Amino acid sequence: MTVLGIETSCDDTAVAVVRNGELIADTVYSQLVHQKWGGVVPELASRDHAKKILTTVRTVVEDAGIELSDLDGIAVTSGPGLLGSVLVGVTFAKALSWMLDIPIVGINHIEAHIFGALLDRKPPVPFIAMIVSGGHTHMYLSEKPGEYSLLGKTRDDAAGETFDKVAKFLGFPYPGGPHIQKLAEKGDASKIDLPIGMKRPGNLEFSFSGLKTAALNVGKGITPVETDFTPEDLAASLQETIADTLLLKIREAMKQTDVKRLVVSGGVVANSLFRRKIEELSQEGVEVILPLRKHCTDNGVMVAFAGAFRLEKGDLSPVSFPARPVMPLDKNPYAR
Ligand code: KG4
Ligand code: ZN
Repeated sequence: MTVLGIETSCDDTAVAVVRNGELIADTVYSQLVHQKWGGVVPELASRDHAKKILTTVRTVVEDAGIELSDLDGIAVTSGPGLLGSVLVGVTFAKALSWMLDIPIVGINHIEAHIFGALLDRKPPVPFIAMIVSGGHTHMYLSEKPGEYSLLGKTRDDAAGETFDKVAKFLGFPYPGGPHIQKLAEKGDASKIDLPIGMKRPGNLEFSFSGLKTAALNVGKGITPVETDFTPEDLAASLQETIADTLLLKIREAMKQTDVKRLVVSGGVVANSLFRRKIEELSQEGVEVILPLRKHCTDNGVMVAFAGAFRLEKGDLSPVSFPARPVMPLDKNPYAR
């Protein structure tokens, strides 16, 4: 089966082709228009997707060495995401599926991130899935392939958003996570004590807005710090506190569910410190499944593999399926 995956939910126009469980070709066009604004500007994002979608699909199909007529199905992110951005991908994919007369499936972006780690692997249930990106900090329990129940999510900012906002304050362009990581390499995290949100034992929810404000207040000199510190120290402390918060919640989720298999995915998993801390869990007998670093941030590969899984299950979408800015994964978006 040859499946085309299309992802346009945020600021990446990303397309991939997978065939019989193998990745054949993929490309990601990351929009640059947002850099100077310190975050994604929805209106600019949808316009840029509309400009790039056709050439991106054409490039991937050529790289794959296939004809459009070789495709057996199309998978496209149908939510959650920026409505205008999702609409570009969904509308394009629908037109293509109509033209080629092949099935189409709308994919939940959060599930796509999970498949960014699993790729062609059958979902190894039961497992805990944590998705940490610019828009999401969510934990799920999956006990049946393709079914998820929410364990906890952020009440306010996402982990990636916290990286981005503090990076913006420090003068870096969007996305800020990689800049904070680079800065943190030369910093001393122990110089600044930042708070872990929702620390209470038993709680599986997240909150990062208190951490963000605390970091900004230290940076602005509103909150005094006992020793001298540099922006590098602030970056190191922020990075460590975010990683420790996520680890704390993962441990709590494993304790509550008694499930010792983890899939951790999303842009923040590209962070070296966080990756290392997660990987260390395997020394405690936890099975850890992480995406390759290049598959952490948004890409078409994860959508194509999620699509292959759904199409094989027979979860086709009706032609009228909508683009959805809000699309809970645990409410079975594939139910017809
Ligand atoms: O998954 P993704 O590409 O988009 C969403 O679905 O949101 O994640 C993007 C997020 C941004 O907030 C970005 O700053 C963060 O992932 N990110 C990182 C790193 N690379 C990307 N955060 C920390 N360290 C990194 N190395
Ligand atoms: Zn994403």
